[in-house]
Amino acid sequence: MPVPLTPEEAAGIPGAHLDLLSTVGFHAAGTAQRLGVFEALTRGALHADELAGRLDLDPDGARVLCDTLVAFGYLTRVGGAYTNSPDAVRWLLREGSDSYAPVLSFWHTVLTERWGGLEESLRRGKPDGDFYAWLDARPDTLADFHTMLSRLAGWLAGEVVPRVPVPDGPASLLDLGGGHAAYPVALCAAYPELRAKVVDLAGALEQGRATVAAAGLTDRIELCPGDLFTADLGTGHDVALLFNIVHGYRPAEVATLLGRVAAALRPGGRLLLLEPLADVERPPGPAEAFVQAFSLNLFHTQGGRVYGYAELTTLLTDAGFTSVDRHVLERSPTDHLVTAVRGSRS
Ligand SMILES: C[S@@+](CC[C@H](N)C(=O)[O-])C[C@H]1O[C@@H](n2cnc3c(N)ncnc32)[C@H](O)[C@@H]1O
Repeated sequence: MPVPLTPEEAAGIPGAHLDLLSTVGFHAAGTAQRLGVFEALTRGALHADELAGRLDLDPDGARVLCDTLVAFGYLTRVGGAYTNSPDAVRWLLREGSDSYAPVLSFWHTVLTERWGGLEESLRRGKPDGDFYAWLDARPDTLADFHTMLSRLAGWLAGEVVPRVPVPDGPASLLDLGGGHAAYPVALCAAYPELRAKVVDLAGALEQGRATVAAAGLTDRIELCPGDLFTADLGTGHDVALLFNIVHGYRPAEVATLLGRVAAALRPGGRLLLLEPLADVERPPGPAEAFVQAFSLNLFHTQGGRVYGYAELTTLLTDAGFTSVDRHVLERSPTDHLVTAVRGSRS
């Protein structure tokens, strides 16, 4: 959490020093979460040695960690005992459908385990290994990743579903990389004659399987484990979703993927991309900082980046799509729906 600053302090402290503090605060919070500090304090205030006993920590280690968390606003200390701050209670406990805990856990793991090689990937212009293989080898982080995405999808679906042009009558949807299945579940609930095919890596489909079963849609949503670049995507689909996918790839790979999607759609079929866009004017602040940080992370971990609308339009047009358009989501102003129609020449 940012440390509170007076205007005089803000003017006199190098920005890099504040970033140093924020980095330490984030790392302390992520480590505390991993150790179970916030959950342990839900049952009442604890002294450092009591917390150390419960979590099998060194007592001095528990004390310095807790004091650091107090300094960053994650804990409060009264009479030598520590409790969760209101912010930690609101955001960092695992229960709660809008808890920040999966996000903190996922990003903390990415930044601690993956960002060491940033300099090298920037020099070579190549990603630091296979991100999804790395994720697949960490079941807890994979679960956090998909929980984070499916909760966001659950929130955005209310705005996205009315914008998906599903034709009347029986219709077919292809969701590429839609592992958690939140979007096809919401769309099939809205359109009783819609059937969906979701293609994603096997591990990613685990949450989707549970979500589809809980919604009673196993007969209408087919979950297909496979690679987007080699799997059988089928043909004649009315609508295809590529949500948060293209930013993971280089332009040549995006072109290949769009060509495969075009071949899987019927002429006149619709493609929808959900993406942050690089060439959108945003005022300096958390939204702009997150989009740029996300792009740097994509470049480093996957070789992709956040694309501009102009680049996406060219890639879509080259792949045989027409009528490219975009719509910024009110529920998440950094996310844009980019829509296109499969032309007859694809
Ligand atoms: C950032 S997530 C987006 C999930 C979902 N579409 C959404 O917007 O919430 C990217 C998804 O693409 C899947 N994915 C990445 N590379 C893939 C590949 N080569 N083949 C199949 N799926 C892949 C991941 O497993 C993950 O589910």
